[in-house]
Amino acid sequence: MTKSVWIKHAQLATIKGQQGPRSKEAMSELGLIEDGSVWLEDGKIAAVGTTAELEKKFADRSADAEVIDAKGQLVTPGLVDPHTHVAYGGSREGEFEKRLQGVSYMDIMNAGGGIHATMRMTREATEEELVEQTTKRLDSFLEHGVTTVEGKSGYGMNLETELKQLKVMKKLNAEHPIDLVSTFMGAHAVPSEYKGKEDDFVDYLIETMLPEVAELAEFNDVFCEKNVYTPEQSERILEAGKKHGLTPKIHADEIVSYGGAELAAKVGAISAEHLLKASDEGIEAMADAGVIACLLPATALYLREEAAQGRKMIDSGVAVAISTDCNPGSSPTVSMPLVMNLACISMRLTPAEALVAATYNAACAIKREDRAGSIEVGKKADIVLWKVKSYQELQYLFGVNHVESVWKNGEKVVG
Ligand code: NIG
Ligand code: FE
Repeated sequence: MTKSVWIKHAQLATIKGQQGPRSKEAMSELGLIEDGSVWLEDGKIAAVGTTAELEKKFADRSADAEVIDAKGQLVTPGLVDPHTHVAYGGSREGEFEKRLQGVSYMDIMNAGGGIHATMRMTREATEEELVEQTTKRLDSFLEHGVTTVEGKSGYGMNLETELKQLKVMKKLNAEHPIDLVSTFMGAHAVPSEYKGKEDDFVDYLIETMLPEVAELAEFNDVFCEKNVYTPEQSERILEAGKKHGLTPKIHADEIVSYGGAELAAKVGAISAEHLLKASDEGIEAMADAGVIACLLPATALYLREEAAQGRKMIDSGVAVAISTDCNPGSSPTVSMPLVMNLACISMRLTPAEALVAATYNAACAIKREDRAGSIEVGKKADIVLWKVKSYQELQYLFGVNHVESVWKNGEKVVG
């Protein structure tokens, strides 16, 4: 049995509050305990309260624990990143320069670069190479306080490579401290061999890929965008995925307003992603249907686009989660702390809302709220100690990694 860990005297943002995706006022529920204390045992959270309460409860057991004095520091749950493309081959720094010279993201993609370039590099990479590259990124996620990550396939766009990506993620979920949740995204672009024959690719995806990949994934995502997949094609793919037990997610309204938010509501998607150009009707439909908005402010910044209307979505009753979108083209970052800062700066979330969006709501977006996203008895002992005195300071001091230590399943993995 490993030794227990007792963290004392912290500003403890437990994020305990309303059950299920939070919006409006509930998005500010931090379950804050000043001079808070948490006891980690056997990989789980065993007790939470004020330091005085835990001192009473564990009066005769303090010798069993490694005691951490966190006076003047913040403690939060491990952050959850609910949207990444982390398992990819190669990199695309040349495109970054091209875009700065004025070539658009979609023009690069339509000319065979972008997602297609990463598809080629991912097809070429061996499973071992992908494991090695992805491990480095996951290590870096952990260093930034992230303990649960969703990862999408979608750089294969043929059965063989989609399976390779999903197997790599399965292996890393088992071997790496981070919990990695898998999403199938075979419809991430139209592979060049199917250009002009998009419906044939949709048939291939539904008939040939879905039956093979379904047991390796929990979610099914599609890039619903002009010149990629239409809402009709996206709907077919997502409905077919449901028959294999995959829950829909949608890359929606990222570049143009295209009915993606509306479609997310129609198919009962758990979340819709990006939403930079979501219509007012789409936002309303999402609020009514309970679709979580997974917003990616680092991607908007990196593409030099106006961020999504996070403030308006929360005020309209949409539950908002935030994510890095970690990928080699539109957001090559693993920094959820930066994403929280940007959620405040570019989408006018409050510091409390940004923290809920990166923890509890993010866990809801990948169906992990039963075990992650808040510090509550019985949940995984996924905990971050930050070198700041408060949750406000975490969002205020921007562009810095404030992580002091991270525990994953009760084991110290950083610091
Ligand atoms: O979420 N928009 C589509 N997919 C990714 C980008 C992937 C890439 O450029 O490699 C995104 O931004
Ligand atoms: Fe994405």
